[in-house]
Amino acid sequence: MIWSARQQQMLRAMGLRPWSRAAPVPQAGEPEKVAAPSTESTSAPASDRAVGPARTRAAPPHVAGASAAALASPAASPVAAADEPAAAALAERRQAIARLDWPALREAVAACSACTLHGTRTQPVFGVGHTEAHWMVVGEAPGEQEDLQGEPFVGAAGQLLDQMLAALSLTRAAEGPQPPAQRVFIANTLKCRPPRNRNPQPDELLACEPFLQRQIALVQPRIILAMGRFAIQSLLQSNEPVGKLRGRVHRYQGVPLVVTYHPAYLLRSPAEKARAWDDLCLAAQVVEGELSPSSPSPDASRSAR
Ligand code: URA
Repeated sequence: MIWSARQQQMLRAMGLRPWSRAAPVPQAGEPEKVAAPSTESTSAPASDRAVGPARTRAAPPHVAGASAAALASPAASPVAAADEPAAAALAERRQAIARLDWPALREAVAACSACTLHGTRTQPVFGVGHTEAHWMVVGEAPGEQEDLQGEPFVGAAGQLLDQMLAALSLTRAAEGPQPPAQRVFIANTLKCRPPRNRNPQPDELLACEPFLQRQIALVQPRIILAMGRFAIQSLLQSNEPVGKLRGRVHRYQGVPLVVTYHPAYLLRSPAEKARAWDDLCLAAQVVEGELSPSSPSPDASRSAR
């Protein structure tokens, strides 16, 4: 990659080094050829089983098979899924969400009451970006500003994220002349702010997962950047720390996925920015088809943290 003076300046301002690509691997292929998840992520994502490959773009009906009320219903809440009818309702909700198109998905998120967060949020935070983007960034949950403004990552962490994306000429802008390769769709694992920014609870992650899953299936990104432990929990069904999972390419519904630190963590631990930058560069290599199945990441030999 040729770095413009502006990009180099931006990287220096962030304390990051310009990425000079390692020798490209000869059999660089499509993202599909990238290495499968290592054995560290123990089980296949439930989402892998629930929906077909993300790259199969279906022509979804508006809302098929279930009413919008059923989608929003607390009866389909994971909290209530201990008995069989509730589990069936949960499965039906998941399948119904998997058939929604963009407008219907947005409506379903707005009307959702499947967990208690709908009672305390100002508004749901659906996601932002162009729906045809090669990149998808997945964060944790809306914070105070996001809850007020209805857009993910608009606070300090979001500014850092935008800077890092801009250094790779990527943008969250939904409008504009950028080709899909430069576009990012940003979404959170939870669409509603947890009170006082507390950690997402397992039932909340479970209730919101079908929305994120559908967003990914509709965007069909070439790379997913999972930021922080809750994005990892939701997408990889893994409780491993970020430091153990980063530095290699995982998969979610067939889409290559790279794990990295959450920008809020980077604000508290700026020394880790270099690793996060390495992660972005790894993701860029995947998108650009420069990584063979067995290629280690640029810093794979460093110890995991
Ligand atoms: N942190 C997140 O994970 N998401 C946001 O939208 C804001 C902060």
